[in-house]
Amino acid sequence: MAGNSISIEPMSGAIGAEILGIDLASPITDQMIEEIRKAQLDHFVVFFRDQDITPQQHLAFAKRFGEVLEYPLVKGLEDIPQIAPVIKLAHETVNFGGVWHSDTAYLPEPPKATMLVARELPPYGGDTMFANMYKAYETLSDGLKSMLEGLRAVNSTEKADASATREDRLKTSATAAASEEIASAHPVVRTHPETGRKLLYVNAGHTTRFENMTVEESAPLLNYLFQHQIQPEFTCRFRWQPGSIAFWDNRAAQHNPINDYHGFKRVMHRVTLAGDAPS
Ligand code: OGA
Ligand code: MN
Repeated sequence: MAGNSISIEPMSGAIGAEILGIDLASPITDQMIEEIRKAQLDHFVVFFRDQDITPQQHLAFAKRFGEVLEYPLVKGLEDIPQIAPVIKLAHETVNFGGVWHSDTAYLPEPPKATMLVARELPPYGGDTMFANMYKAYETLSDGLKSMLEGLRAVNSTEKADASATREDRLKTSATAAASEEIASAHPVVRTHPETGRKLLYVNAGHTTRFENMTVEESAPLLNYLFQHQIQPEFTCRFRWQPGSIAFWDNRAAQHNPINDYHGFKRVMHRVTLAGDAPS
């Protein structure tokens, strides 16, 4: 494969690009890492196809972009705890993370990015959708933008729709931390630390209420924002194949894995990269 020139093909008008011309099982130059990082900042989620990498190579590739975190609630692979298996078994009905969300937004410092490698796929279905949170912010009215400015919202591990999606895994693989609620308040309008652009930072999976307000008081406006931020024009949908990898900016993008492959198993390997406290 040609040494040091990758190409980038946008996938929709709002978000997502495929990166072509790279073999992640061969040595990757610093320049390639920089081009991938820039593509992720420009397109919010980037995809690779037809890659044949081991879990060790997955971890090593992710480490080129930052410090790797462990998923707080479910144990990682026995030999590589930084890789969290994301599994739905054939008899299960709920898929892990099967709601619109930003990963682990309940942490004080949520991850900046997530790299997901397909390991075992159903014969059809199991696509993942992504949505552009800059666009979600920019398309609000000036009145709502200024109302949201300065507001903070609480994100919790205990929001029912998302916590239900973890239950099957928690039965056998819960970490010690999984038994306690983890919650953090973050700005509703967040400034991306690398691009300096503002984005909408609430999500249906984890955001429970505005700070200093009740769940009931918060619900009408939060529910409006949850609907607004995932409209089709802000999204793309990725069809996984063996060897596919998705690598998303967990600040600029939200995602939602579609639960439409009942009766089949799906296994992904997930690595997250440390991020900063939202501001
Ligand atoms: C995740 C997640 C999406 C998928 O790993 O954080 O939401 O497609 N997974 O399985
Ligand atoms: Mn997720």
